[in-house]
Amino acid sequence: MSEPICKVCVIGAGTMGAGIAAQVANAGVPVLLLDIVRDEANRNAVAEGAVAKLLKTDPAPFMSKRAAKLVETGNIDDHLDRIAECDWVIEAIVERLDLKQALYARIEAAKRPGTAVSSNTSTIPLGQLVEGRSDQFRRDFLITHFFNPPRYMRLIEVVAGPDSDPELVARVSDFADRSLGKTVVPAHDTPGFIANRVGTYWLAVAINAAMDQGLTVEEADQIGGKPMGVPKTGIFGLVDLVGIDLMPLLSKSLTSTLSQGDPYFDTVRPLPLVDRMIAEGYTGRKGKGGFYRLDRSNGGKVK
Ligand code: NAI
Repeated sequence: MSEPICKVCVIGAGTMGAGIAAQVANAGVPVLLLDIVRDEANRNAVAEGAVAKLLKTDPAPFMSKRAAKLVETGNIDDHLDRIAECDWVIEAIVERLDLKQALYARIEAAKRPGTAVSSNTSTIPLGQLVEGRSDQFRRDFLITHFFNPPRYMRLIEVVAGPDSDPELVARVSDFADRSLGKTVVPAHDTPGFIANRVGTYWLAVAINAAMDQGLTVEEADQIGGKPMGVPKTGIFGLVDLVGIDLMPLLSKSLTSTLSQGDPYFDTVRPLPLVDRMIAEGYTGRKGKGGFYRLDRSNGGKVK
């Protein structure tokens, strides 16, 4: 297979991007991790902060400190041209079509033809992501949907579009399998692909049912945790891990692709409770806690 993947760029150093970068580094492959400029005094602060946080996270996203050294940090304003050095660019920014499309226009101008570009989107159809892009970009584009946390979750959904180059899709899938240790599941470009079509619905049903029945989070997770195959976190703990701020974005994206009257549509609609929690900063483990509060006196462990 031509053009091996020797260097990767991950754009978006949040919950997923930082973890994906760590997993690429664990495979011994250098990775450039970029985010936006939030602080003029330290323009790389977002990506640097993400790596520093990963080094303290338990269970460890990095296999070793040596692996962590393979991650170089930067920002999309000063360092986007460096994707010309990379064989695969993984976009893991916030789940918003407008922001992803604007970023792809910039990536298109900076990348080499044949460099793979993939999105880690949970729900946005591939056809919408590549709207307005060149034929070459469409050939080089696919969706690679990693699961959280990327070091420990084996599955990756790969969605190829009608224009994606089959050889490039095979190259990325092969790297995900052999180097990243993933089980690659090819999925169609349908709303939520496979896992989030089921998962978003299932989480929404569980949260609605717990609220209707007046259960506490702990009571609900006693039922929806171990007995239902989510032993480590339970259902509410899983939403905290995923990020509560992602929930309305997933709902919005999914409902925009479904027709009203579809029973699925009513279930995955945004929940007012979730909007209130986000407004108050309860975005989950990456914020000040979520359904479960975090114990700051104990290194931010879940209470
Ligand atoms: P997040 O909110 O934790 O991180 C997003 C990061 O993107 C932030 O650091 C933000 O500063 C950065 N960003 C925003 N706009 C940017 C831009 N224009 N250029 C560069 N960086 C930018 O989001 P999270 O949860 O990591 O999600 C990222 C993607 O992965 C989304 O598409 C989401 O649907 C998907 N995903 C999320 C999972 C989860 O469990 N959180 C699981 C699987 C997929």
